[in-house]
Amino acid sequence: MTDILLPDPSGISRAAALLQQGALVALPTETVYGLGADARNGTAVAGIYTAKGRPSFNPLIIHVADVDQARQYGRWSDTAEVLASAFWPGPMTLVLPLADGHGLSSLVTAGLDSIAIRIPAHPTARAILRAFGGPVAAPSANPSGKISATTAQHVLSGLEGRIAAVVDDGPCTVGLESTIIGLNQPRPTLLRAGGLPSEAIEAALGGTLDVADGAEIIAPGQLASHYAPHASVRLNAHDAKEDEVYLGFGAAKGTGADDLTLSASGDLVEAAAYLFDRLHALDRLRKPIAVAPIPETGLGRAINDRLRRAAAPR
Ligand code: TXA
Ligand code: MG
Repeated sequence: MTDILLPDPSGISRAAALLQQGALVALPTETVYGLGADARNGTAVAGIYTAKGRPSFNPLIIHVADVDQARQYGRWSDTAEVLASAFWPGPMTLVLPLADGHGLSSLVTAGLDSIAIRIPAHPTARAILRAFGGPVAAPSANPSGKISATTAQHVLSGLEGRIAAVVDDGPCTVGLESTIIGLNQPRPTLLRAGGLPSEAIEAALGGTLDVADGAEIIAPGQLASHYAPHASVRLNAHDAKEDEVYLGFGAAKGTGADDLTLSASGDLVEAAAYLFDRLHALDRLRKPIAVAPIPETGLGRAINDRLRRAAAPR
Protein backbone atom coordinates (compact mmCIF):
# COMPACT_ATOMS: atom_id res chain seq x y z
CA MET A 1 0.00 0.00 0.00
CA THR A 2 1.24 3.46 -0.88
CA ASP A 3 -0.08 6.30 1.30
CA ILE A 4 -1.18 9.52 -0.39
CA LEU A 5 -0.11 12.44 1.81
CA LEU A 6 -1.35 16.03 1.63
CA PRO A 7 1.14 18.90 1.34
CA ASP A 8 0.05 20.25 4.76
CA PRO A 9 2.03 20.29 8.04
CA SER A 10 0.93 16.79 9.03
CA GLY A 11 1.68 15.33 5.57
CA ILE A 12 5.07 17.04 5.56
CA SER A 13 6.07 15.78 9.00
CA ARG A 14 4.85 12.28 8.11
CA ALA A 15 6.97 12.38 4.91
CA ALA A 16 10.04 13.49 6.91
CA ALA A 17 9.45 10.75 9.52
CA LEU A 18 9.18 8.08 6.80
CA LEU A 19 12.45 9.28 5.25
CA GLN A 20 14.10 9.11 8.68
CA GLN A 21 12.92 5.49 8.98
CA GLY A 22 14.58 4.63 5.65
CA ALA A 23 11.30 4.42 3.69
CA LEU A 24 10.78 5.62 0.11
CA VAL A 25 8.66 8.77 -0.34
CA ALA A 26 7.77 10.37 -3.68
CA LEU A 27 7.74 14.15 -3.42
CA PRO A 28 6.77 17.00 -5.73
CA THR A 29 9.46 19.34 -7.10
CA GLU A 30 9.00 22.10 -9.68
CA THR A 31 10.67 19.88 -12.35
CA VAL A 32 9.22 16.37 -11.88
CA TYR A 33 8.18 14.20 -8.91
CA GLY A 34 11.23 12.66 -7.22
CA LEU A 35 11.49 9.25 -5.55
CA GLY A 36 13.19 10.20 -2.29
CA ALA A 37 15.29 8.27 0.24
CA ASP A 38 17.79 9.24 2.96
CA ALA A 39 21.04 9.57 0.96
CA ARG A 40 23.13 8.48 4.00
CA ASN A 41 21.21 5.21 4.41
CA GLY A 42 22.52 2.54 2.02
CA THR A 43 19.53 0.24 2.50
CA ALA A 44 17.09 3.06 1.79
CA VAL A 45 19.02 4.09 -1.34
CA ALA A 46 19.16 0.47 -2.52
CA GLY A 47 15.36 0.52 -2.28
CA ILE A 48 15.23 3.29 -4.91
CA TYR A 49 17.11 1.11 -7.37
CA THR A 50 14.78 -1.87 -6.77
CA ALA A 51 11.55 0.17 -6.85
CA LYS A 52 12.55 1.77 -10.18
CA GLY A 53 14.24 -1.33 -11.61
CA ARG A 54 17.17 1.00 -12.25
CA PRO A 55 20.59 -0.22 -13.49
CA SER A 56 22.94 0.02 -10.51
CA PHE A 57 25.62 2.04 -12.35
CA ASN A 58 23.39 5.08 -12.52
CA PRO A 59 24.20 7.70 -9.84
CA LEU A 60 21.52 9.81 -8.13
CA ILE A 61 20.98 13.52 -7.46
CA ILE A 62 20.87 14.58 -3.80
CA HIS A 63 18.42 17.30 -2.76
CA VAL A 64 19.23 19.64 0.10
CA ALA A 65 17.53 22.60 1.78
CA ASP A 66 20.30 25.21 1.50
CA VAL A 67 23.81 26.04 0.28
CA ASP A 68 25.41 25.28 3.68
CA GLN A 69 24.24 21.69 3.29
CA ALA A 70 25.33 21.56 -0.36
CA ARG A 71 28.89 22.48 0.71
CA GLN A 72 29.00 19.51 3.09
CA TYR A 73 28.70 17.13 0.15
CA GLY A 74 30.28 18.89 -2.85
CA ARG A 75 33.60 20.71 -3.01
CA TRP A 76 32.75 24.36 -3.56
CA SER A 77 34.30 26.76 -6.11
CA ASP A 78 33.83 30.32 -7.36
CA THR A 79 31.85 28.99 -10.34
CA ALA A 80 29.63 26.95 -8.03
CA GLU A 81 29.00 30.12 -6.03
CA VAL A 82 28.06 32.11 -9.15
CA LEU A 83 25.60 29.47 -10.41
CA ALA A 84 24.15 28.67 -6.97
CA SER A 85 23.44 32.32 -6.20
CA ALA A 86 21.90 32.88 -9.65
CA PHE A 87 19.73 29.75 -9.93
CA TRP A 88 19.20 28.04 -6.55
CA PRO A 89 16.63 27.22 -5.44
CA GLY A 90 15.55 26.09 -8.90
CA PRO A 91 15.67 23.59 -11.77
CA MET A 92 19.48 23.27 -11.90
CA THR A 93 21.75 20.45 -10.67
CA LEU A 94 25.49 20.93 -10.10
CA VAL A 95 27.94 18.03 -10.33
CA LEU A 96 30.83 18.82 -7.96
CA PRO A 97 33.86 16.88 -6.74
CA LEU A 98 32.77 14.84 -3.71
CA ALA A 99 33.68 16.55 -0.42
CA ASP A 100 35.76 14.79 2.25
CA GLY A 101 33.77 13.23 5.10
CA HIS A 102 30.49 13.46 3.16
CA GLY A 103 28.84 10.46 4.84
CA LEU A 104 26.74 9.57 1.78
CA SER A 105 25.96 6.00 0.77
CA SER A 106 28.32 4.95 -2.04
CA LEU A 107 25.24 3.77 -3.94
CA VAL A 108 24.27 7.43 -4.39
CA THR A 109 27.41 8.22 -6.38
CA ALA A 110 27.59 4.72 -7.90
CA GLY A 111 31.27 4.80 -7.03
CA LEU A 112 32.10 8.10 -8.84
CA ASP A 113 34.23 10.75 -7.07
CA SER A 114 31.65 13.44 -7.89
CA ILE A 115 28.19 14.23 -6.58
CA ALA A 116 25.09 15.74 -8.25
CA ILE A 117 23.35 18.28 -5.95
CA ARG A 118 20.18 20.33 -6.29
CA ILE A 119 18.21 22.76 -4.12
CA PRO A 120 14.65 22.57 -5.46
CA ALA A 121 12.38 25.62 -5.42
CA HIS A 122 9.08 23.81 -4.79
CA PRO A 123 7.73 24.97 -1.40
CA THR A 124 6.57 21.47 -0.39
CA ALA A 125 9.91 19.89 -1.36
CA ARG A 126 11.70 22.57 0.65
CA ALA A 127 9.45 22.05 3.66
CA ILE A 128 10.11 18.28 3.59
CA LEU A 129 13.88 18.84 3.22
CA ARG A 130 13.88 21.26 6.16
CA ALA A 131 11.81 18.93 8.35
CA PHE A 132 14.02 15.96 7.44
CA GLY A 133 17.23 17.96 7.87
CA GLY A 134 19.49 15.80 5.65
CA PRO A 135 20.24 14.98 2.02
CA VAL A 136 17.49 13.23 0.03
CA ALA A 137 18.58 11.13 -2.94
CA ALA A 138 15.83 11.33 -5.55
CA PRO A 139 15.68 10.24 -9.16
CA SER A 140 12.53 10.93 -11.12
CA ALA A 141 9.64 8.89 -9.65
CA ASN A 142 9.02 6.56 -12.60
CA PRO A 143 10.04 2.99 -13.41
CA SER A 144 13.48 3.08 -15.07
CA GLY A 145 13.33 4.01 -18.77
CA LYS A 146 9.66 5.03 -18.66
CA ILE A 147 7.96 8.44 -18.91
CA SER A 148 8.79 10.79 -15.99
CA ALA A 149 6.06 11.64 -13.47
CA THR A 150 4.67 15.17 -13.24
CA THR A 151 1.61 14.33 -11.10
CA ALA A 152 1.03 12.05 -8.09
CA GLN A 153 -1.25 9.92 -10.33
CA HIS A 154 1.69 9.31 -12.71
CA VAL A 155 3.78 8.24 -9.69
CA LEU A 156 1.11 5.81 -8.53
CA SER A 157 0.54 4.34 -11.97
CA GLY A 158 4.22 3.31 -12.10
CA LEU A 159 5.20 2.69 -8.47
CA GLU A 160 2.00 1.96 -6.45
CA GLY A 161 2.71 -0.64 -3.77
CA ARG A 162 6.49 -0.31 -4.20
CA ILE A 163 6.92 2.90 -2.17
CA ALA A 164 5.69 3.98 1.26
CA ALA A 165 4.03 7.25 0.27
CA VAL A 166 3.58 10.01 -2.29
CA VAL A 167 3.01 13.65 -1.30
CA ASP A 168 0.36 14.92 -3.73
CA ASP A 169 0.78 18.61 -4.53
CA GLY A 170 -0.68 18.67 -8.03
CA PRO A 171 1.14 19.03 -11.34
CA CYS A 172 4.77 20.18 -11.57
CA THR A 173 5.13 23.69 -12.99
CA VAL A 174 8.35 23.26 -15.02
CA GLY A 175 7.63 19.68 -16.12
CA LEU A 176 11.16 18.79 -17.31
CA GLU A 177 14.04 17.47 -15.21
CA SER A 178 16.71 19.89 -14.02
CA THR A 179 19.53 21.12 -16.24
CA ILE A 180 22.75 19.37 -15.11
CA ILE A 181 26.04 21.30 -15.14
CA GLY A 182 29.33 19.50 -14.52
CA LEU A 183 31.79 21.57 -12.48
CA ASN A 184 34.13 18.63 -12.03
CA GLN A 185 35.54 19.17 -15.54
CA PRO A 186 38.18 21.60 -16.87
CA ARG A 187 35.34 23.91 -18.01
CA PRO A 188 31.67 24.09 -16.94
CA THR A 189 29.89 21.44 -19.03
CA LEU A 190 26.26 20.92 -19.94
CA LEU A 191 25.61 17.27 -19.00
CA ARG A 192 21.83 17.31 -19.52
CA ALA A 193 19.58 19.95 -21.07
CA GLY A 194 16.64 20.60 -18.75
CA GLY A 195 14.20 23.00 -17.13
CA LEU A 196 16.66 25.90 -17.01
CA PRO A 197 17.64 27.02 -20.53
CA SER A 198 21.41 26.86 -21.14
CA GLU A 199 21.30 30.43 -22.50
CA ALA A 200 20.49 31.67 -18.95
CA ILE A 201 23.42 29.73 -17.50
CA GLU A 202 25.84 31.06 -20.11
CA ALA A 203 24.64 34.60 -19.39
CA ALA A 204 25.35 34.15 -15.66
CA LEU A 205 28.78 32.64 -16.37
CA GLY A 206 29.63 35.31 -18.94
CA GLY A 207 30.88 32.55 -21.27
CA THR A 208 29.86 29.44 -23.12
CA LEU A 209 29.31 25.98 -21.66
CA ASP A 210 31.11 22.95 -23.02
CA VAL A 211 28.64 20.32 -24.12
CA ALA A 212 29.16 16.64 -23.23
CA ASP A 213 29.74 15.00 -26.60
CA GLY A 214 28.24 11.65 -25.69
CA ALA A 215 31.48 9.84 -26.68
CA GLU A 216 31.73 8.71 -23.09
CA ILE A 217 28.64 8.58 -20.93
CA ILE A 218 29.33 11.38 -18.44
CA ALA A 219 25.80 11.44 -17.04
CA PRO A 220 25.11 7.71 -17.12
CA GLY A 221 21.35 8.29 -17.04
CA GLN A 222 21.67 9.71 -20.53
CA LEU A 223 20.95 6.35 -22.12
CA ALA A 224 19.61 6.45 -25.66
CA SER A 225 16.21 4.88 -24.92
CA HIS A 226 14.42 6.56 -22.03
CA TYR A 227 11.01 8.13 -21.36
CA ALA A 228 9.59 5.34 -23.52
CA PRO A 229 5.82 4.96 -24.03
CA HIS A 230 4.57 1.44 -24.84
CA ALA A 231 4.11 2.12 -28.56
CA SER A 232 6.62 3.75 -30.92
CA VAL A 233 7.22 7.49 -31.26
CA ARG A 234 7.81 9.28 -34.60
CA LEU A 235 9.33 12.79 -34.51
CA ASN A 236 9.07 15.89 -36.74
CA ALA A 237 5.77 14.61 -38.10
CA HIS A 238 3.54 17.09 -39.92
CA ASP A 239 0.50 14.86 -39.50
CA ALA A 240 -0.54 11.45 -38.16
CA LYS A 241 -0.70 8.31 -40.28
CA GLU A 242 -3.76 6.03 -40.18
CA ASP A 243 -2.93 4.14 -36.94
CA GLU A 244 -1.16 6.98 -35.09
CA VAL A 245 -2.24 9.60 -32.56
CA TYR A 246 -0.79 13.08 -32.97
CA LEU A 247 0.94 15.31 -30.43
CA GLY A 248 0.86 18.81 -31.89
CA PHE A 249 2.61 22.10 -31.25
CA GLY A 250 1.48 25.55 -32.40
CA ALA A 251 -0.16 25.51 -35.83
CA ALA A 252 0.51 21.75 -36.22
CA LYS A 253 -2.66 20.44 -34.56
CA GLY A 254 -3.72 17.05 -35.92
CA THR A 255 -7.30 16.14 -36.78
CA GLY A 256 -8.08 12.92 -34.85
CA ALA A 257 -10.44 12.82 -31.85
CA ASP A 258 -7.65 11.58 -29.55
CA ASP A 259 -5.00 14.04 -30.76
CA LEU A 260 -3.46 16.39 -28.20
CA THR A 261 -1.19 19.44 -28.32
CA LEU A 262 1.83 20.47 -26.25
CA SER A 263 0.85 24.10 -26.67
CA ALA A 264 -1.75 25.42 -29.09
CA SER A 265 -0.09 28.85 -29.00
CA GLY A 266 3.40 27.43 -29.66
CA ASP A 267 4.72 28.42 -26.19
CA LEU A 268 7.78 26.34 -25.18
CA VAL A 269 7.31 26.93 -21.43
CA GLU A 270 3.76 25.57 -21.62
CA ALA A 271 4.97 22.69 -23.85
CA ALA A 272 7.64 21.73 -21.27
CA ALA A 273 5.11 21.79 -18.43
CA TYR A 274 2.73 19.44 -20.33
CA LEU A 275 5.23 17.19 -22.14
CA PHE A 276 5.22 14.16 -19.82
CA ASP A 277 1.51 14.56 -19.01
CA ARG A 278 0.58 14.45 -22.71
CA LEU A 279 2.88 11.45 -23.29
CA HIS A 280 1.24 9.61 -20.35
CA ALA A 281 -2.23 10.40 -21.73
CA LEU A 282 -1.42 9.23 -25.27
CA ASP A 283 0.44 6.20 -23.88
CA ARG A 284 -2.82 4.98 -22.32
CA LEU A 285 -4.21 4.54 -25.86
CA ARG A 286 -1.30 2.18 -26.69
CA LYS A 287 -1.12 3.63 -30.22
CA PRO A 288 2.02 4.84 -32.04
CA ILE A 289 2.57 8.55 -31.39
CA ALA A 290 3.51 11.09 -34.08
CA VAL A 291 4.97 14.34 -32.71
CA ALA A 292 5.04 17.77 -34.38
CA PRO A 293 8.39 19.55 -34.94
CA ILE A 294 9.54 21.56 -31.88
CA PRO A 295 11.94 24.52 -32.31
CA GLU A 296 15.49 23.82 -31.08
CA THR A 297 15.83 26.96 -28.91
CA GLY A 298 15.49 27.66 -25.15
CA LEU A 299 13.44 24.92 -23.48
CA GLY A 300 12.87 23.40 -26.93
CA ARG A 301 16.32 21.81 -26.68
CA ALA A 302 15.41 19.89 -23.52
CA ILE A 303 11.98 18.96 -24.95
CA ASN A 304 13.62 17.60 -28.14
CA ASP A 305 16.20 15.73 -26.05
CA ARG A 306 13.41 13.92 -24.14
CA LEU A 307 11.45 13.24 -27.34
CA ARG A 308 14.51 11.80 -29.13
CA ARG A 309 15.04 9.39 -26.24
CA ALA A 310 11.32 8.47 -26.20
CA ALA A 311 11.64 7.70 -29.94
CA ALA A 312 14.97 5.86 -29.74
CA PRO A 313 15.18 2.17 -30.66
CA ARG A 314 14.56 0.11 -27.49
O1 TXA B 1 14.77 17.46 -11.97
C1 TXA B 1 15.48 16.51 -11.67
O2 TXA B 1 16.70 16.51 -11.85
C2 TXA B 1 14.80 15.28 -11.04
C3 TXA B 1 14.18 15.77 -9.72
C4 TXA B 1 13.55 14.66 -8.95
O3 TXA B 1 15.18 16.42 -8.96
N1 TXA B 1 15.70 14.22 -10.84
C5 TXA B 1 16.21 13.48 -11.85
O4 TXA B 1 17.02 12.46 -11.45
O5 TXA B 1 15.98 13.69 -13.02
P1 TXA B 1 17.45 11.25 -12.36
O6 TXA B 1 18.07 10.27 -11.45
O7 TXA B 1 16.31 10.74 -13.17
O8 TXA B 1 18.57 11.83 -13.27
C6 TXA B 1 19.81 12.16 -12.71
C7 TXA B 1 20.85 12.31 -13.76
C8 TXA B 1 21.21 11.00 -14.42
O9 TXA B 1 21.36 11.20 -15.81
C9 TXA B 1 22.54 10.66 -13.74
O10 TXA B 1 23.32 9.83 -14.53
C10 TXA B 1 23.13 12.04 -13.55
O11 TXA B 1 22.05 12.79 -13.15
N2 TXA B 1 24.13 12.07 -12.49
C11 TXA B 1 23.95 11.84 -11.18
N3 TXA B 1 25.12 11.93 -10.52
C12 TXA B 1 26.06 12.24 -11.43
C13 TXA B 1 27.46 12.47 -11.38
N4 TXA B 1 28.13 12.38 -10.24
N5 TXA B 1 28.10 12.77 -12.52
C14 TXA B 1 27.42 12.86 -13.68
N6 TXA B 1 26.10 12.66 -13.80
C15 TXA B 1 25.42 12.34 -12.69
MG1 MG C 1 14.75 10.04 -14.81
